[in-house]
Amino acid sequence: MTREVFCRTSPSLALVKYWGKKSTRQNLPATPSLAVTLGGVHTETRVRIAGSDSIRLNGEPIALDRFTPLFDSLRRAAGRQVCFQVESSNDFPSSAGLASSSSGFAALTVACARILELDLSPAQLSAFARSASASAARSLFGGFTLLPAGGFAAEQLYGSDYWPELRILIALVSREAKPISSRAAMEATRLSSPYYRAWLRNAGQLLDPALKALETRDISALGPVVRLSYSRMHAALLASSPPVLYWLPNSVAILRECQHLRDEGVGAWETMDAGPQVKVLCLASDVATISGRLQEVDPQLKIIVASVGEGPVCQAEQR
Ligand code: DP6
Repeated sequence: MTREVFCRTSPSLALVKYWGKKSTRQNLPATPSLAVTLGGVHTETRVRIAGSDSIRLNGEPIALDRFTPLFDSLRRAAGRQVCFQVESSNDFPSSAGLASSSSGFAALTVACARILELDLSPAQLSAFARSASASAARSLFGGFTLLPAGGFAAEQLYGSDYWPELRILIALVSREAKPISSRAAMEATRLSSPYYRAWLRNAGQLLDPALKALETRDISALGPVVRLSYSRMHAALLASSPPVLYWLPNSVAILRECQHLRDEGVGAWETMDAGPQVKVLCLASDVATISGRLQEVDPQLKIIVASVGEGPVCQAEQR
């Protein structure tokens, strides 16, 4: 019998975005991020001890470079020189701007720590996950999370049952992997965008109004802040040299449809990350109207309806 650890996590969608690093070496974020963990979309990861490190994502072997530093730091913490055999899968497109690195690195951290029998608090696990991918620090918790600027770990602000009426429609504009990773694009923005400094100065100012709106679960106050955060992040990206543009024609068509819906009094508040997908925040009572209208924009469009999700589920199994 072989011991195996299974961990399921959900992606973390930033309402106020992390974009830029305070320290590249430690992977510390330069801006605070406020996020919701998505319910209904998952990463599932299984880890075993093996003779050498290996990772398969959705059945395909993948390069280890992004993972070895995390493996090494967990091995150091446990004082054990063992290797990991990892099988991971996402029930949503990977590397397409759907935050698969947040749920992926969170699941990997939790599963590897468990198989090493490391006794770590959620904050310690969050800090290990952050060192690999900052958004993953937030996927260590369900509900609504905050990762401060320069923060080592995320914290949970509200649990998964805090806002039962909130929905996030994920409009899958493209299933292709993004042309440039968020890490490389962040570095390009820092090195070449004249708006990067302005982004850093301004990003923190969006946090307070977003926190206030969240405190009262007021989507009409939260929505405009969410919109400013992604718009300004993408403005900084677009001003890079060469420009980084993640949007596709259908992304823009959906943004415009959200504006039309708002003009008609329907609360449809979109956000975008490092990819062409559009996520629309709304209330459960508006899901049918908004989905119908997005489907008119593109009858082929796949829409996933997510709610506020849970933190990691982890168990050890004998196989
Ligand atoms: C646009 O967490 O993928 O989704 O720390 O370099 O791994 P690394 O970056 P990553 O960036 C996420 C950027 C974002 C915004 C966010 O999730 O806050």
